Amino acid sequence: MSQDVLLDIKDLAVEFSARRGRFQALRGIDLTLLPGQFHALVGESGAGKTVTAFTILRLLPDSARVVQGCVSFQHHDLLSMSGDVLCNVRGREISMIFQESAKYLNPSMRADRQIMESVRFHLGYSDKAAWEYTRDLFAKVGLPPDRETLARCPLEFSGGMRQRLMIAMAIACTPLLLIADEPATALNAGTQKQITGLLRKIRLESGMALLYMTHNIGLVRYSADYISIIYAGKIIESAPADILFEEPLHPYTRLLLACIPGWNKRGRRLGEIRGASPGPGDIPPGCAFHPRCPLAQPNCRETVPPLVRMKKAPHRCACFYPGKEFPQA
Ligand SMILES: Nc1ncnc2c1ncn2[C@@H]1O[C@H](COP(=O)(O)OP(=O)(O)OP(=O)(O)O)[C@@H](O)[C@H]1O
Ligand SMILES: [Mg+2]
Repeated sequence: MSQDVLLDIKDLAVEFSARRGRFQALRGIDLTLLPGQFHALVGESGAGKTVTAFTILRLLPDSARVVQGCVSFQHHDLLSMSGDVLCNVRGREISMIFQESAKYLNPSMRADRQIMESVRFHLGYSDKAAWEYTRDLFAKVGLPPDRETLARCPLEFSGGMRQRLMIAMAIACTPLLLIADEPATALNAGTQKQITGLLRKIRLESGMALLYMTHNIGLVRYSADYISIIYAGKIIESAPADILFEEPLHPYTRLLLACIPGWNKRGRRLGEIRGASPGPGDIPPGCAFHPRCPLAQPNCRETVPPLVRMKKAPHRCACFYPGKEFPQA
């Protein structure tokens, strides 16, 4: 592993025990993040974005089990780290903006106190210093930095303000890695863009790395350095963002991009993605995308295509026919 790597996930598989039996939500994830990188993990609902985030922070419920693979952060194995060490890493070195932020904020506790608690614990600030630091954080994330707003409870905030508060909490201890799990999905399109822009700005100013989970590839087109596409618990393509948009190779990525207004590569119409992504426990054999793929051949139904390096490294793709022309409809 290179000296530069911040987060390295290798062949990670996570299994859930449910009433219907066991199923794998992650089926061998490979993902590498460099320091300071804006890495977008893009996939449909149920693809495994949140499970990936929760595995990194060891927040999985008891019904889940890591059955294979490793997750290392600055060369330390997160999966086997002791509780004490992990407590220091969480919040201090890796922090997270949750998909359902309302669940993770105390709705009736003063906003400033929620941030000050973590600042005092991790950074050892006095009450006065922690309050002043919190006030500056409010300004940084675009919340009014006045006494009145600082003293209000999240319950009295709008959705966009709550999300900004969650960001302030997450960046309070200047982590090396911020995981943002669909940080703005519940908000309107304008606020979504503002929140994504804010995260990009904070990341550029602070130098932290950002792992940004979203189902909307268009949202990260101009912000992400690197994009990994996840489908049914597996990374099927990953590349620097400009390469991915210029020369997507996996049929799923190409169809996903075709849905973005204005992408329309070389004026070609690629059509829509037919069908739906497989549910848990219904993953088809071979390539999980084959039932929806316009290029599928018999071997795609039998063998799982490995994620391999393409000609333009570090572009990687898991398809037996990368970049092949789609048949005319
Ligand atoms: N606590 C759980 N118990 C059982 N199955 C779960 C649990 N959490 C997630 N799963 C399953 O794991 C798979 C991946 O879920 P995950 O929440 O990671 O998807 P996601 O990509 O974050 O989707 P979304 O965009 O809807 O948030 C899904 O099939 C989901 O049903
Ligand atoms: Mg999710």
